[in-house]
Amino acid sequence: MKHRVCRYEALEQTGKLALQLDHKPVVVIRAHDGTVHALRDVCPHKGPCLSAGMIDRNCTGDTTGEYQFDPDTEVLRCPWHSWEFDIRTGRSLFAPEKVRVKTYPVTIEDGDVFVDL
Ligand code: FES
Repeated sequence: MKHRVCRYEALEQTGKLALQLDHKPVVVIRAHDGTVHALRDVCPHKGPCLSAGMIDRNCTGDTTGEYQFDPDTEVLRCPWHSWEFDIRTGRSLFAPEKVRVKTYPVTIEDGDVFVDL
C-alpha cells in the first residue's frame, strides 16, 4: 500500500524522516544526488532505530592509513555499533549478501513523497 509521507522539500539534503507506516518503523532519506530512499528503521543487529544514526559517504581504501570517500555510496550508520548500510540497497557494507535492511519503493509525484509498503 502506498503512503504519502511528506513534501519533497521537507527532506533537506541528506535529511531523514522517521515515521510509522502501517505500524512499521520506516526511515525516509534524501541522498546527496536528490534521490529519496526508504528503509526499515530497525538495525538487524540489536534493534535500535537506524534513523538515530548518521548518514555519510562510504569510506574506502586500498592500504592502511589511506582513505577515500566513495561518491557513489552513501551509508546510514547504526548509532549503537556503527554497522553501515547502503541507503539505496539496504545492504550492509561488511556482508552485503547476508546482512541487510529491508527497503521500500519510493515515488515522488507532484512534489509529494510516497513509500510503498
Ligand atoms: S545494534 Fe546496530 S550495529 Fe549493533
